[in-house]
Amino acid sequence: MSSLRSLGGPRIKHLSEEGAPFETITVDKLTPIIGGEIGGVDLSRPISNRQMDEIHRALAENSVIFFRDQHLSQDQHLDFGRRFGELHIHPAAPAEPLHPELMVIHADKDSPRANGEGWHTDVSCDPEPPMGSILYIRTCPPKGGDTLFASMYAAYEALSDRMKSYLDGLTARHNGEHYRGQYANYGVKDKETYPFADHPVVRTHPVTGKKALYVNKGFTRYINGIPRDESDGVLRYLYEHMANPLFQCRFRWQENSIAFWDNRAVQHHAMWDYWPHTRSGNRVTVKGDRPV
Ligand code: SIN
Repeated sequence: MSSLRSLGGPRIKHLSEEGAPFETITVDKLTPIIGGEIGGVDLSRPISNRQMDEIHRALAENSVIFFRDQHLSQDQHLDFGRRFGELHIHPAAPAEPLHPELMVIHADKDSPRANGEGWHTDVSCDPEPPMGSILYIRTCPPKGGDTLFASMYAAYEALSDRMKSYLDGLTARHNGEHYRGQYANYGVKDKETYPFADHPVVRTHPVTGKKALYVNKGFTRYINGIPRDESDGVLRYLYEHMANPLFQCRFRWQENSIAFWDNRAVQHHAMWDYWPHTRSGNRVTVKGDRPV
């Protein structure tokens, strides 16, 4: 096992710096690098502008934030998402019948698959991929069903200077086509076409100004402008590198918990280790900008 130092610990030190104290919420960090559990807020009640500002800041500082014991209707979940921007409609996944912006996240004993198994950034194949996703889990299995989150700031920071220079200015093709047919068992009809887009391999976060690695196994197909075997090798390296546990936190769900992650700064991975039990909830996804 490599030491923390050789894994890039010193190079990502600045990521753990604390911001100013919070006044209207509490933030309990899961790790120095990523993840914060928010306390002192009931999302079913009106949220003041000051609290909203602090929730925004907590998201920017921690990249993924968590809320426990929340009791939201579908409309309240949607309204909370709208406070962060326009809502995104998933190009393929099942949604609640009356609310196309309310994605269904559900796996049980009859499921052929579960959402989000494998590291990915949500819908990065969109030309303007979602800024964030707000997952509300109401039904949990007795054990398991955790979600892992990895900081793409930390992954970028820990790259060698040579690799950073190599990646500088490169773009990669993201494509959702290979998900065609995956939702057929949920009675969801396939779309005629699936989105695709070229995005920078390293993006600059529009709020924090920090650089983040922006390729993911779920959607990135190849790096543009280099031979395909070179692209395959570089992507393989970057996927292995980003999955370093040093960059991660792991959220253990309880019923009525919420995770809100910033797709511009993290990748996530849902564990389907609870079959034949049921895990169920909804995801509201907030639209984002074209990565730069
Ligand atoms: C997803 O939105 O990718 C699913 C995440 C999860 O179910 O934990």
